[in-house]
Amino acid sequence: MPTPRQSDGQPSSATLSAAISAVGLRKSYGDKTVLDGIDLRIPAGSVFALLGPNGAGKTTAVKILSTLIGADAGTLHVGGHDLATDPQAVRAAIGVTGQFSAVDNLITGEENMLLMADLHHLPKQEGRLAAAELLERFDLTEAAKKPASTYSGGMKRRLDLAMTLVGNPRIIFLDEPTTGLDPRSRHTMWGIIRGLVSGGVTVFLTTQYLEEADELADRIAVLNDGRIAAEGTADELKRLIPGGHIRLRFTDPAAYKSAASALREVTTDDEALALQIRSDGSQRKLRSILDRLDSEGIEADELTVHTPDLDDVFFALTGPADIPNKTKENVR
Ligand SMILES: Nc1ncnc2c1ncn2[C@@H]1O[C@H](COP(=O)(O)OP(=O)(O)O)[C@@H](O)[C@H]1O
Ligand SMILES: [Mg+2]
Repeated sequence: MPTPRQSDGQPSSATLSAAISAVGLRKSYGDKTVLDGIDLRIPAGSVFALLGPNGAGKTTAVKILSTLIGADAGTLHVGGHDLATDPQAVRAAIGVTGQFSAVDNLITGEENMLLMADLHHLPKQEGRLAAAELLERFDLTEAAKKPASTYSGGMKRRLDLAMTLVGNPRIIFLDEPTTGLDPRSRHTMWGIIRGLVSGGVTVFLTTQYLEEADELADRIAVLNDGRIAAEGTADELKRLIPGGHIRLRFTDPAAYKSAASALREVTTDDEALALQIRSDGSQRKLRSILDRLDSEGIEADELTVHTPDLDDVFFALTGPADIPNKTKENVR
């Protein structure tokens, strides 16, 4: 994207062409530092995914950038407006779908929409039209006159997003838009988000799902320990990781446990009874794992070798810091 030049001598810094930018964003709660100097630059019309595990600070970042809470430090611009001096203009430019639904369950979908139209001071007729159009677009026309309490999770999420779009914002924040949705509803939501972007809207989304970031985002930032551990396109991030991993799955919890202690440099998934071992994909590494399992008399029910994907990036960037050294020791 070309950087716009201004003829009037105004600074045509990168900040001005970005829909959202943050420099040195900091936020602490008491002595807990949640965001420890974050820099972001999100071009207009793109999808940006802030990826991180639970508690990483994603919602905090969304709340700050959407003016709901204040930052402790940082220069922040949204829609060309400075958050510190012009939060009102920022609010007028954005829409926010929070992690937890803003839908009022006691009233109908249509009433929820009209309430939003009122909040945006749309004239009655215009509000009705906007509500009807959005309900139609999100396939909610049939359910419009039913109480939102009767909606499925996917329908509620769609209504929530439809409500966000009432004021026709050009920048929208979606905090974990598909968490808790079944796969079909998740795909529907992805389609809706892609539709928004093709209409020129800038989307800032947070997610715990690598697959979602991979599907939707032009750029992804991985948030870990209060900092951006890596930032780039999905492909750029995948390139950061030299190798993939080997995954072992068990049906017998006892075998799973012995394997986890026999192979010390593993990432465990107790629920799936699966172990993941970082690997450069070499025959030698695979053989060393198999040898160790053999010598302990452990048999895995499934063994798969993965080439790098976003999961690997995520594990490598957000995993315990001591893993790389352990791996070296074990290989020696
Ligand atoms: N109002 C608050 N007071 C104190 N701690 C908070 C508050 N809001 C969030 N936190 C803490 O900040 C950290 C980041 O939270 P959050 O931004 O909600 O993470 P995420 O959305 O990535 O799951 C968590 O440790 C959380 O407990
Ligand atoms: Mg959150």
